[in-house]
Amino acid sequence: MKKAVVTGIGGYVPKGILTNKDLETIVDTSDEWITTRTGIKERRIAAKNQVTTDLALEASKIAIKKAGIRPRQIDYIIFATATPDMLFPSAGCLLQHKLGAKNAAAFDIAAGCSGFIYALSIAEKYIECGSAEHILVVGAEILSRIVDWSDRTTCVLFGDGAGAVLLSAKNGDRGIISTVIRSDGSYGDLLKLPGGGSLFPPSYESIDNKLHYIKMSGNEVFKKAVKSMEDIAVELLETNGYEGKDVDLLVPHQANMRIIQAVQKRTNIPENRTYVNIHKYGNTSAASIPIALFEAEERGFLKERDLVLCIAFGAGFTWGGSLIRW
Ligand code: UT7
Repeated sequence: MKKAVVTGIGGYVPKGILTNKDLETIVDTSDEWITTRTGIKERRIAAKNQVTTDLALEASKIAIKKAGIRPRQIDYIIFATATPDMLFPSAGCLLQHKLGAKNAAAFDIAAGCSGFIYALSIAEKYIECGSAEHILVVGAEILSRIVDWSDRTTCVLFGDGAGAVLLSAKNGDRGIISTVIRSDGSYGDLLKLPGGGSLFPPSYESIDNKLHYIKMSGNEVFKKAVKSMEDIAVELLETNGYEGKDVDLLVPHQANMRIIQAVQKRTNIPENRTYVNIHKYGNTSAASIPIALFEAEERGFLKERDLVLCIAFGAGFTWGGSLIRW
């Protein structure tokens, strides 16, 4: 059986920077509160003329170039996002056209901040069952367009960006070892964007009630995120015969530094083997893990054959993880 090996990875963040100090002038918050409660110092904000698939295009071009293939060789584009350019056509199809990936089937995954892991899980199966040679997995978001800039409990947390990996079918023992995904829809109310769907289609009333913005019960989400991410990390290691000490790099979803520290403690993976960039980008949802993987590789923290553990948690609730022999 061939395995899904990462043959190329790319990332892109927009140039615009919004610091905690800038936010102090927008809502009643402080650099001290944001830094101590989350670890975030600044985040990137897309330019007015950029859409999510523009960010994805930049990241994808890097991944495809590194993989040394042509866009026409891609069999599938799986695009994880909570902020597609529009409801349909899918961001996957829009990206397919921008890339000229004419032979790819393209679709989106809606799994909030776990979207990239969900997309990886699907790509892994297509490759392992022999249905695909090359798959582009993308996580990209422009969350700045769906945050309520008057709500200090959410607007300080999120940022914009994109990451992409090119997975190729290869013989050998490198590649995705195992991916696990989970969900529990009974927690849906704790993290949602209620407007714009069939429940609350756009209306003057939905806009007056700010239904087109992220609503989050932060503290309740926090507690469940810690437990779920810890549990999935331990499960992935145990079921595959590894311990924390075997992991060369932990790449967690970057939502809160305190969640990341809790996972490090539970799995015995030290700080110097955990990739963190939350201070620079905040929570970029489905883009956070591929951006972190891209940076880690660029900066020499990620080498061929390293054991990499990626874990995420998000709206749904959804959570999951992937263990990869890089
Ligand atoms: O990525 C998908 C999943 N998302 C997450 O994993 C996010 C999970 N949640 C979190 O990261 C944290 O819950 C937050 C960072 C959102 C909040 O931290 P917390 O320690 O859970 O704080 P809290 O919500 O319990 O709020 C504590 C206090 C409140 O004031 P009172 O009621 O104690 O007077 C808030 O009003 O902090 C206040 N507060 C703020 N103060 C200054 C909330 N937001 C801010 C703010 N600046 N931006």
